[in-house]
Amino acid sequence: MAELADRCAVPVHVGVDLPIRLPAPVEAAAWFVVGEALTNVSRHSGAEQAWVGARLRGGVLVLEVRDDGAGGADSGRGSGLVGLADRVSVLNGRITLTSPAGGPTVLGVELPCV
Ligand SMILES: Nc1ncnc2c1ncn2[C@@H]1O[C@H](COP(=O)(O)OP(=O)(O)OP(=O)(O)O)[C@@H](O)[C@H]1O
Ligand SMILES: [Mg+2]
Repeated sequence: MAELADRCAVPVHVGVDLPIRLPAPVEAAAWFVVGEALTNVSRHSGAEQAWVGARLRGGVLVLEVRDDGAGGADSGRGSGLVGLADRVSVLNGRITLTSPAGGPTVLGVELPCV
């Protein structure tokens, strides 16, 4: 995740706590999710900082990408967030997006690892 964080226009705090190597499809999807989310942070949020978290909870990878920007993310206005939802649903995962006007924006993704 550090490489993706380095590419982001704002400082990204990365907290990854993963005791095991993830299944390859989960790892690939997680990479895709964090990449798109941080691209959105750079392009749309106006944030000063962002946070990426990854941990395992009962065999489920729990990812969170948060920024302190302006909010107002809306999957109806582009294809990136829709693409994320597709990618996550193929793996029977779940996605939540909260992004009220004024922020913050929080993207949460859960991906089963078994
Ligand atoms: N972190 C964010 N903060 C504020 N607004 C956001 C954020 N992420 C997305 N948005 C808003 O939601 C819209 C949809 O995002 P989405 O990623 O689906 O499309 P996009 O980034 O515009 O284009 P692309 O298809 O290249 O991803 C964006 O156009 C932007 O207005
Ligand atoms: Mg996008």
